[in-house]
Amino acid sequence: MSAIRFKTFNSTFTANQHNFDVIEIENGFCRAVIARQGAQILSFERKMNNAETDAVDSKSLLWCSELSLQQFLDDLKSDRKTKAIRGGIPLCFPWFGGHPTDAKLPAHGFARTQLWNLTSVDESAQGHQLLFTLENNSVTEAVWQHPFCLTLRISCGKQLRMALAIENKGDTAFDCEFAWHSYFPVNAIENARIDGLQGKKFLDQLTNQTYVQEHVQIIFDQETDRIYQDVDGHYLIQDERQQIKIDTNHCQSAIVWNPWIEKTKRLGDVDAQAWRDFVCLECANVREHRLHIEAGASAEFSMTIA
Ligand code: BG6
Repeated sequence: MSAIRFKTFNSTFTANQHNFDVIEIENGFCRAVIARQGAQILSFERKMNNAETDAVDSKSLLWCSELSLQQFLDDLKSDRKTKAIRGGIPLCFPWFGGHPTDAKLPAHGFARTQLWNLTSVDESAQGHQLLFTLENNSVTEAVWQHPFCLTLRISCGKQLRMALAIENKGDTAFDCEFAWHSYFPVNAIENARIDGLQGKKFLDQLTNQTYVQEHVQIIFDQETDRIYQDVDGHYLIQDERQQIKIDTNHCQSAIVWNPWIEKTKRLGDVDAQAWRDFVCLECANVREHRLHIEAGASAEFSMTIA
């Protein structure tokens, strides 16, 4: 089974590669849904053959808030301005978190709420490859005055692979931050563990204190919001049911986030109980690892999730 479907939720146009709200992809390895807004992959289910029953099982590698998705669809149908979707892999760029000098600017930058162009779709024996681009435009220039081009290649095969290139198309160097703000599913956050950050220093964003990760595994028993630096870029998220492996290249920061009970109530786009169902492990270059890209130069990053 192999298919790619462009969908729109606003009936005034027929969906195609240049005009769509979401793409649904299915091939022998996986099923995926990608929103044009933010070039944001919302779900990725890996197909797995069950040797005992001969049936095809699937494993979800990403989590998405149903409430946020519903709000997004309602906004699209009513021609309202859409918000960032909470789930899958939003891309934070060109800053991470609040803007450093202007609190009125959107948290995590503009890339996750911009409409990207789908430049190409290819299918091979390895699955589907999609190439999205985002260039500076009047909206981005109003808040960040740099000519740029982001190229995001999403490969949906046995694994989910993301490759990002950030190109400086201007005449002067710029600094920027980026994060793949991935939402991963867990069976229950209290039983989830993250491996791969032992010995790394982190800024606890809740206390503004810096610590070193002593234990091999990160566990969760309260709101957690940490920026780890000088990381190795290889992680394992596991609970009693499944494990998800994340491998990156050139991402020197990692953010670990779960809003827990009280913050979830303030988010407005997540069901009250949903804090138990996900953890964010964000592969990034932020704060002291922000990027400095010379005029005409590019920087490249990748992440594989399996
Ligand atoms: C994380 C930040 O990356 O994103 C948190 O570390 C923040 O501080 C979270 O609350 C969610 O951000 P947003 O803008 O998607 O609500």
